[in-house]
Amino acid sequence: MELELRINGVIKSVDVAANESLMTVLRQEGYFSVKHGCETGECGACTVLVDGVARPSCVMLAAQAGGCTLTTVESLGNARKLHPLQEAFIDSGAIQCGFCTPGMVLSAHALLERNPNPGEDEVRDALSGNLCRCTGYVKPVQAVLRAAAILRGEHVASISSPESTENFKAWDPGRSPLEHAEYGAGNPDAGTPFTAPNAPLSNVSSDDDSSSAGGTATLVGTRVSTDLSIVGKPERKVDAVKLVTGKPAFVDDIDLRDMLHARLLTSPHAHAVIRNIDASKARALSGVHAVLTYKDVPRVPYTTAGQSWPEPGPHDQYCLDYMVRFVGDRVAAVAAETPEIAEQALALIQVDYEVLPAVLDPRQATDPNAPRIHPEPESYRIHDASRNIAAHLHAEIGDVERGFAESDVVVEGEYIVPQVQQTPIENHIVITYWDEDDRLVVRTSTQVPYHVRRIIAPIIGLPPRRIRVIKPRIGGGFGVKQEVLLEDICSLLTITTNRPVKLEFSRAEEFRSSRSRHPQILRMKTGVKRDGTIVANQMTLLANTGAYGTHSLTVQSNTGSKTLPLYPCANIRFEAEIVYTNLPPAGAFRGYGVPQGFFALESHIDEIAKQLGMDALELRRKNWLKEGDENPLARALGEGKEGYTQIIESCGLPQCLQIVEEKLHWKEKRGRSGTGRFRYGVGVALAMHGTAIPGLDMGGASIKLNDDGSFNILVGATDIGTGSDTVIAQIAAEVLGVRMEDIIMHSSDTDFAPFDTGAYASSTTYISGGATKKAAEQVRMQILEVAGRMLKANPDSLSINNRIITAPNGQTVTVSQVALHSLHVENQQQIMSTASWMSYNSPPPFAAQGAEVEVDTETGVVRVLKAISAVDAGRVINPIMAEGQIEGGATQALGYGVCEEMVYDQQGALLTTNLSDYRIYNAVDMPQMESYLVETHDPFGPFGVKAIAEIPIDGMAPAVANAVADALGVRIREIPLTPERVLRAIHAQAQNGEGQVRWGRD
Ligand code: FES
Ligand code: FES
Repeated sequence: MELELRINGVIKSVDVAANESLMTVLRQEGYFSVKHGCETGECGACTVLVDGVARPSCVMLAAQAGGCTLTTVESLGNARKLHPLQEAFIDSGAIQCGFCTPGMVLSAHALLERNPNPGEDEVRDALSGNLCRCTGYVKPVQAVLRAAAILRGEHVASISSPESTENFKAWDPGRSPLEHAEYGAGNPDAGTPFTAPNAPLSNVSSDDDSSSAGGTATLVGTRVSTDLSIVGKPERKVDAVKLVTGKPAFVDDIDLRDMLHARLLTSPHAHAVIRNIDASKARALSGVHAVLTYKDVPRVPYTTAGQSWPEPGPHDQYCLDYMVRFVGDRVAAVAAETPEIAEQALALIQVDYEVLPAVLDPRQATDPNAPRIHPEPESYRIHDASRNIAAHLHAEIGDVERGFAESDVVVEGEYIVPQVQQTPIENHIVITYWDEDDRLVVRTSTQVPYHVRRIIAPIIGLPPRRIRVIKPRIGGGFGVKQEVLLEDICSLLTITTNRPVKLEFSRAEEFRSSRSRHPQILRMKTGVKRDGTIVANQMTLLANTGAYGTHSLTVQSNTGSKTLPLYPCANIRFEAEIVYTNLPPAGAFRGYGVPQGFFALESHIDEIAKQLGMDALELRRKNWLKEGDENPLARALGEGKEGYTQIIESCGLPQCLQIVEEKLHWKEKRGRSGTGRFRYGVGVALAMHGTAIPGLDMGGASIKLNDDGSFNILVGATDIGTGSDTVIAQIAAEVLGVRMEDIIMHSSDTDFAPFDTGAYASSTTYISGGATKKAAEQVRMQILEVAGRMLKANPDSLSINNRIITAPNGQTVTVSQVALHSLHVENQQQIMSTASWMSYNSPPPFAAQGAEVEVDTETGVVRVLKAISAVDAGRVINPIMAEGQIEGGATQALGYGVCEEMVYDQQGALLTTNLSDYRIYNAVDMPQMESYLVETHDPFGPFGVKAIAEIPIDGMAPAVANAVADALGVRIREIPLTPERVLRAIHAQAQNGEGQVRWGRD
């Protein structure tokens, strides 16, 4: 039907189908700021203003919008003149991946139109329909309050570095530098000192409880060096403008002529053999261009784990297989003219399944009578396929049994952590097409472009040289996009049809058919002396990897190797069995095995303290890892490779714990839960993590200088919303002595950027930043050599600051003049360099996290009132972005502790397949959140950095569990702390009079 839509003040006549959603139509019309995150009106990514009211356009028919005034974010502002809301989102650091940002900005806009002076609760309420998986909502709320103040004409303090106007200035190369008597003379840049604003460095003060949403980043500690201009400053995100203006930056934001739409047929059974599959009717359907089943694709064993070659885990998957191993496993793929035709074709594929018995409980997986999930002979690197054991780990130092025997008290406990989903707001999506040279382009939402290219090559039958992988902006990853899930099948559909093909998971498919965090059952056994000294510590775990063993070995390796060393002792044992079941596979999820381990370890430490009658923090202080200590398990375990020696060179744990203790009012509040319906408690947990994978992660960077003094930087590092492009630009600008706007970032395209292992293992700033620093130092030397010739001075005697190179005699030349001279005048050469970097060190970041909770003893509802994180991430390159990482990670951990859980029926079908049944925190759910950065300096990383991305997710769940135990006097050893679990604990306590309740399925 023909429809008139008034979009952003322009009347458009569009042809729409009766059942077409407004979101689909707006995207077809090129309004790419309207994002697809679900189909059910729950995520808010597709928000538009309909007559000024924020509405999810995915659940509104386009036909319903006729006659309405529609507003998308494209109309609010542009790069030259942003709307105050857009400015405030950038200034406040409210944008990470930016996928939710247009929707959030519009919801905020609608609020401010009707209420120019909203309170924080009103802002949270207005944003409650816009889910964000990155930020924890702290900074978006600040941004809206800030914009409201600006729009009211109030003065607001600056937060991040000011917007540059440089990109809109005309450039004049001027006269030949040889005509200058003094190079600095007459140059418009010379003598214009640039001062970046300083991030506040504050000391801890125990009386500051008023900042509910944090403010600018709070840095604590002593900076090793304060003479840096760009590093350590809250610079604006380099991609923020395009994200906040809704520019076409993501995978789906392109229009390709003749693009086909792919859909997947997936298994309705947890375990079955396909006796026959008949796709003839589907192939005969008009508009269908390809149907692929296992009969049409080569049988190549592989792993979807995007890890370095050779991937250490089982190679137990096949692009399409004659066996299905979980509900949601791939059966067939269709490419058709429209998504609707593709859906119809799926319904026409006839599959004759022989349903097999399934194993759904990991405790039964190794039973000799359990069905074998991987009987196929082609799979390899499976630890013991006959017993469904994907991987096994054992590490031991000292004599653990003797340690237990020599202990005064031995404390044991079993802890259970759930299967949870990464839930990026952008689902997995890939578009494939042939380019003009008959090379296959794979435009994909991935954390690991180079691994994608290498892994899919044998499956699709092309050499890597004929594959180009492009990663545009991606709407969140959190590990789930370290998996190669759709690229192979979409590529095969393009190879088969010679047409561009798009394949995207629906939200339900994202839950059912992608990846998750390994659920584990962990048993802790710890021997201690009466004074609290730990003598022996043992962790044994059973992990469920689901139908495939992707990341099974390395995730569980981290569960032990990155947690047990926090309390080093002479006798440590770690044992892990990772088993297959007929459930959706687990994989990489931010934290990578460590949140599971710390839930067990940090709950257990509180239990030990209680048995000893000791303060829980005192017990931690007595045993924790210190500077100069060796991590004993690093040598015994490694991470997918042989072990290594690790000495702790920097550790800010004492300061971190002091901050959390003070901010939580530990001494006043611990053990004072009250007696009424609502009980209150405080809890703390410590954490450590790793920085990259030693001896394995590697990244490269290329830098070249342009005529105007700008630099192109090409990195394979994959910014997934974490801001790595920005911190890499800061590192380069610092070394090169130029401004942020002089750096033009390009990441990640396998044709142009140097190799990089990708965005995982908290490695990017350390590894890719290290490569960038090295390349920038080489470019700097080249610049100084040319400048030395121009100024007739020794290059070693020159300095570069704010684009100006100065000789000891005061003569100057600009970087732009050096570029012009080098490219056009004398000894012509392109000033450029490429460097790569890897490290045999993995300096651990440390954190203390604390929570204050309220527990409703009638409903069992746990409400987190306050969540505090203090993190030692070494030198902080960008405090506002580092703080955003802490807030986002801590928020995901709150969900892990309180409400997130994948739930199945008795046949193994997932029940939590939408964002209502699987609940992640929204803006209204958020507690008061405070973040502190304790700066230390580690000798290995560029400028002393350590990792920041993962550690904030490690300790918050056990901190909440410890706080609930403090509130109730009952230990609940299974998360999430749902109302049902809490009520069961309370009732069990009432019946048994016990202070501890054992949970589990036994
Ligand atoms: S609410 Fe419309 S895409 Fe999620
Ligand atoms: S910034 Fe909100 S989902 Fe990524």
